[in-house]
Amino acid sequence: MIELDIFTLFPAAFAWFEAQRHVSNATAAGALGLHYINYRDHTPLSAGQVDDTPFGGGAGMVLRVDVVEAALRARYQSDPVELRARRRVIALTPGGRLLDDALVSELAAEAELTLLCGRYEGFDERVLEHLVSDRVSIGRYVLAGGELAAMVLCDALVRKLPGALGDERSALEESFSEALDGGPEYPHYTRPAEHRGWRVPEVLLSGHHARIREWRMEQTRLRAQASEQR
Ligand code: ADE
Repeated sequence: MIELDIFTLFPAAFAWFEAQRHVSNATAAGALGLHYINYRDHTPLSAGQVDDTPFGGGAGMVLRVDVVEAALRARYQSDPVELRARRRVIALTPGGRLLDDALVSELAAEAELTLLCGRYEGFDERVLEHLVSDRVSIGRYVLAGGELAAMVLCDALVRKLPGALGDERSALEESFSEALDGGPEYPHYTRPAEHRGWRVPEVLLSGHHARIREWRMEQTRLRAQASEQR
């Protein structure tokens, strides 16, 4: 069971994500709880203000530290500076630790997580310095907000939860997993066995499980080598 608290200005953005089969499966199986906290509902500022112009000038708006702190306090009834010592509070930010399979597995093993989505130009730096335990990036490019990044993280994480995928093994032998020595996954084929003369590798049609397994591991090895050479 993992409880995910997502802090965002746009909770409605997650509706599509929640409706995805693996996510609704995990929720129905009691393996996942998704909760949304809208910064705007807890802002101490008037007129629902949550962001401000950057000191020193420059384009865009910055999510205020007092606003993020107020939202965390409202949710956890404690000082956010202490909170991060006992709970992983993760800011989604382009400069953070790059998300990979190992980090996803690490996070999927937690009982609860807090995800903070930034907007516009991101967070006041003091949020990152004092209020979070982790900074995670889904890649070295800048999105308009952390919501898509949070969904990417959640999607990858939910795939690792029991009951999310129809077949438990699909997550075990996925690309970059330990079962494949961190290598990319072997290729998959389905019917028809031939299309425009493009034939499915004969071994996969053989029904010979040991040989199929050998072939798949070999494909993973070859692909790992090829991607190292790129
Ligand atoms: N917020 C904006 N861009 C992001 C990125 N690349 N990764 C995580 N959070 C982000």
